[in-house]
Amino acid sequence: MYARVIGTGSYLPGNPVSNNDLAARGIDTSDEWIVTRTGIRARHLAEPGTTSSALGLIAAERALEMAGISAAEIDLIIVATSTPDFIFPSTACIIQGKLGNKGAAAFDVQAVCSGFAYALGVADKFIRSGSHRRALVIGAEVFSRILDWDDRGTCVLFGDGAGAVVLEAAEQPGILATALHADGSQFGILNVPGQICNGQVTGDPFLRMDGQAVFKFAVRVLADVAEEVCATAGISAAEVDWLIPHQANIRIIEATGKRLGVDRDKVIVSVDHHGNTSAASIPLALDEAVRDGRILRGHKVLVEGVGGGFAWGAALFEF
Ligand code: UT7
Repeated sequence: MYARVIGTGSYLPGNPVSNNDLAARGIDTSDEWIVTRTGIRARHLAEPGTTSSALGLIAAERALEMAGISAAEIDLIIVATSTPDFIFPSTACIIQGKLGNKGAAAFDVQAVCSGFAYALGVADKFIRSGSHRRALVIGAEVFSRILDWDDRGTCVLFGDGAGAVVLEAAEQPGILATALHADGSQFGILNVPGQICNGQVTGDPFLRMDGQAVFKFAVRVLADVAEEVCATAGISAAEVDWLIPHQANIRIIEATGKRLGVDRDKVIVSVDHHGNTSAASIPLALDEAVRDGRILRGHKVLVEGVGGGFAWGAALFEF
């Protein structure tokens, strides 16, 4: 029994905000700096009051429509997010309520930018075990809410958005291999070290990052975990039709492809027009490439994420 992707969907809120728009808003930066260092040209920022569940709901509805099934037929909903609507209930339960689904298992996964790879890995195990038949796996984020807009080293990098896939139990593949890892000793290089306590924010509620440390760690583990899932599935990285690394930075994406020996034209890049959307980045890129006809049935697709924790993971599937 395999978990097969039968639908994809995504959503970006509002109009693109260009690098020049950010500079015009008073951030001490330039289009040239951001494009050269990151490949990012624009990001989308949700209006005040627009939550991760609102973005995730639209992505989920689009994925269900492509799959040709109704929300009532879903028996598992997993949302990867680090910017949930509330402390509780989970964003998955909120989306479930908005979809009108009753009775499916619903919970969030907190693995930051590797969240979608984690959620896919967990959903795959539920389906392969036979306990669940149809899963909605969503990555949804409003990272703009946790950015320090006075920190030009981070605020220009991130954006808001959501992506989703519908998985169904099938005899033909399907997800071929998944791998999930973390190293909590690297907690300090990327975090939001704050909390709500007795009605007050304690600590620092903004995203903090040692960019160069993250860069080095990310390239190494993205190459390692991609090789791991290929080895499990018994193929070489060169046999992968499409590589979708976490969309954080074009230099990380290109370095990962190079280390794996995957041709540049087989690497899907969408970071240029939505920036780093954390757990939403992989399903956003996936949906774009499915809808524009690059990813076709039977293609082997390798998705992989890395981020705060440090946590990282990958999934290799036949579309
Ligand atoms: O999901 C994982 C998310 N994280 C990532 O993907 C981040 C990985 N890291 C990176 O992509 C890079 O480290 C960055 C793009 C974040 C930074 O690039 P860098 O080449 O490591 O630059 P840097 O931090 O060493 O800064 C170089 C210079 C500094 O100026 P000085 O000290 O040399 O005068 C910064 O103050 O660039 C300056 N700088 C900026 N200049 C214009 C930093 N941010 C900006 C900015 N605009 N937005």
